[in-house]
Amino acid sequence: MKEKINNIITILQKENITSIEALQKFKCKYTSILSDIISDFKILPLEKKKEYGQYVNELKTLIDSTYKNADKALKKIKNNNQYIDHSLPIYSHIGNRHPISTLKQKLINIFSYLGFTMLEGQEIEDDWHNFTALNIPYDHPARDMQDTFFFTQDHNYLLRTHTSSVQIRTLETNKIPLRCFSIGKVYRNETISARSNCFFHQVECFCVDENVSFQDFKFILFTFLRKLFGEKTKINIRSSFFPFTSPSIEVDIECLICKGKGCSICKHSGWLEILGGGLIHEQVLKNCGININKYSGYAMGGGLERIALLLYRIDDLRLFAENNIRFLRQFA
Ligand code: DAH
Repeated sequence: MKEKINNIITILQKENITSIEALQKFKCKYTSILSDIISDFKILPLEKKKEYGQYVNELKTLIDSTYKNADKALKKIKNNNQYIDHSLPIYSHIGNRHPISTLKQKLINIFSYLGFTMLEGQEIEDDWHNFTALNIPYDHPARDMQDTFFFTQDHNYLLRTHTSSVQIRTLETNKIPLRCFSIGKVYRNETISARSNCFFHQVECFCVDENVSFQDFKFILFTFLRKLFGEKTKINIRSSFFPFTSPSIEVDIECLICKGKGCSICKHSGWLEILGGGLIHEQVLKNCGININKYSGYAMGGGLERIALLLYRIDDLRLFAENNIRFLRQFA
């Protein structure tokens, strides 16, 4: 019997239990072996029982401890596997776009749909592209409309004050017909407040071709605004002045907050000013070397933060530049 038990122990020590199924098999196998041994043991004479009792106990203890250790090890593996569940997301929340980026994407979609090509402009500009070519000569009072950050004392290099400079660079170097738009940062030396910042984003859209009329402009303008603010948006056009357009207009939409009844956001007028535009001034076309007897065009431009304030009902423009994560997460 001693030999039989030793043989079983040798085999048992070689058992490698790596799964729950293997553990179950181990349990069945050794329960049956042990019960056979115990049956044999029971029929032994008393003096033999005294001799072999310790071996049977040894075997029973070894089976028990092997089972418990394997069970413990398997549970640990299971727990570890649960900890590295590869199907779980890495972070507990999903990141999101900045509201200005979301608006920028909306504008890209609309203008691309309307057949306009997107352009990148440059933020460091010279006097010609930001002012002079746009029919804003040095002593023109319109320069006071936009407080400028200059790089040089001769005021030749500056941070662009509007995206209209992209118009000039494009008209100077490309063949007509042109239907383009550009979105980017502009800079103005202004006191920072809830209503104004020293930098913000603008969108500029323009078209130059043969026989471009105010009617063409109006169609694009209305389609654009209704795609952005909704098909039923009421639009109001006012006569205005910009040195680079003639005639010039400013465009209002019915207040999104009070629906035209009058509230603090629209200063009780029922209307919100959205952008400026008009037919491109002949002098601007001439400055870009374009034959004004053959070609005409329209242009419009406006600020993204202003539109975003209205779309997202925000009352402080500085929030868009502060990178407060709690504010930005609201746009998820
Ligand atoms: N550049 C103007 C501004 O910064 C906006 C603007 C007005 C752009 C009329 C245009 C335009 O293209 O035609 O306020």
